[in-house]
Amino acid sequence: MKYRFPAAVGLAFLSFLGLIFVMQTFERPPVSSVQQGFRGTGMVQVANPRLAAMLRDVNQAPPALEAASADGDRASTIYENVPLLGHLSIEQFGRLMQAMTEWVSPEAGCNGCHVEGNFAAENVYQKQVSRRMIQMVQRINTQWTNHVEAVGVTCYTCHRGQPVPAAHWAAMPEHGARGMAASADRQNLGLPSVGLASLPHDPYSVYLAGGADIRVATRTPLPSGNRQTIQGTEATYGLMMHLSQALGVNCTFCHNSRSFASWEESNPHRQTAWYGIRMLRDINADYIAPLRDILPPERRGPMGDALQANCATCHRGLSEPLYGAPMLRDYPELAPAAAAPR
Ligand code: HEC
Ligand code: HEC
Ligand code: HEC
Ligand code: HEC
Repeated sequence: MKYRFPAAVGLAFLSFLGLIFVMQTFERPPVSSVQQGFRGTGMVQVANPRLAAMLRDVNQAPPALEAASADGDRASTIYENVPLLGHLSIEQFGRLMQAMTEWVSPEAGCNGCHVEGNFAAENVYQKQVSRRMIQMVQRINTQWTNHVEAVGVTCYTCHRGQPVPAAHWAAMPEHGARGMAASADRQNLGLPSVGLASLPHDPYSVYLAGGADIRVATRTPLPSGNRQTIQGTEATYGLMMHLSQALGVNCTFCHNSRSFASWEESNPHRQTAWYGIRMLRDINADYIAPLRDILPPERRGPMGDALQANCATCHRGLSEPLYGAPMLRDYPELAPAAAAPR
């Protein structure tokens, strides 16, 4: 008798393959979409409520400490080494120390930045780093209001109760390539920094520390004036993957995909993002990168540089960090009226 393969088994097998394909390719519903631009422009935000619940858990701003009186003696009258905060009242000074402990080193407590029994001692690197961080925060809150607005930032915006912010980047060694498809241009590695895409995986050193032009389209029709390269295009898209991921948004949060380059057709968010890129270049180059000289080796990247900030360091999957909680309001010490000394 001739053996006949039962059609039902074949069908079951095919549907099994189909199911695997669907599970690997699509997000589990429900998925919501909200129209943002004019009808027909395709400017729609797609969101997944299940992810939203996860984000809520990790993005809560801590309650502010009780306000401190600005009256009484200045901190500099009783403390020894307070070049930065000596102008605060003793009560304000103590409150800020308390807050910084909660923001940056809740586990080690005051000893995260001080040696037991001698608060004036200067030989703790974390104390030196903190001075620069305080100046950086003051600069963000006074000079970069076109990005952070009145909301502002505190140490918590980046640190979230950890000595090192969870989202950071560092320069990677050149020989990270693996597999046949990997190229020397740091491409095709499918790393999370560019949303698992095959794009060059380090858009940060070029664009968020260095000041390379973030462009794809040329500004001139003449070949002689066209400085845009394919490499530049790939790196630009790599950075854009980061921007989208860091904020938990689609490209159309900022762009009209009809013309990515056109500012007239872009959403106002794109301008805010433009300032954000400049802000990061400023704080990475002037404040964080130079700290490499005082940070211990285990706090630096594989190439020995300091761990630096990107959009995700503050945003952590939300377009408004910590759901827009006003961070600066309760800590005016972190934005002195005069620009921070540099
Ligand atoms: C994240 C780092 C950090 C933490 C945590 C921290 N401090 Fe400080 N502390 C500093 C810095 C920076 C200075 C120097 C401020 C300046 O330059 O004006 C300082 C200075 C001081 C001084 C002045 C000492 C002197 O005589 O010069 C005292 C007192 C102090 N801190 C108390 C505390 C207490 C109490 C805690 C815990 C509740 C604490 N600090 C937690 C960073 C920190
Ligand atoms: C823009 C984000 C950002 C803000 C805001 C920020 N920091 Fe940091 N901070 C960083 C990054 C990134 C590092 C990691 C540097 C490294 O380890 O190479 C760091 C490291 C530190 C360290 C070293 C910790 C250790 O154990 O090695 C201290 C201390 C610190 N910050 C204190 C502060 C304080 C105090 C504030 C608020 C006045 C503050 N930071 C605000 C990004 C930030
Ligand atoms: C949070 C806002 C934001 C998001 C999200 C975003 N972009 Fe951008 N994009 C910008 C900004 C700002 C610039 C201009 C940067 C500059 O000039 O410094 C830019 C530039 C570009 C350019 C270069 C245009 C030119 O002038 O040649 C392209 C292409 C681009 N984006 C594509 C994308 C793609 C694709 C995505 C989604 C993966 C995306 N963007 C997501 C803000 C954003
Ligand atoms: C030092 C922290 C910090 C960093 C780093 C940072 N941002 Fe922001 N960003 C903020 C704050 C604070 C706001 C104001 C939020 C609000 O209005 O509630 C903001 C607002 C925005 C907005 C407006 C969102 C809205 O819904 O109104 C966009 C877009 C944005 N940031 C993009 C970026 C991009 C892109 C990067 C990286 C190039 C970046 N940010 C880096 C802190 C930061």
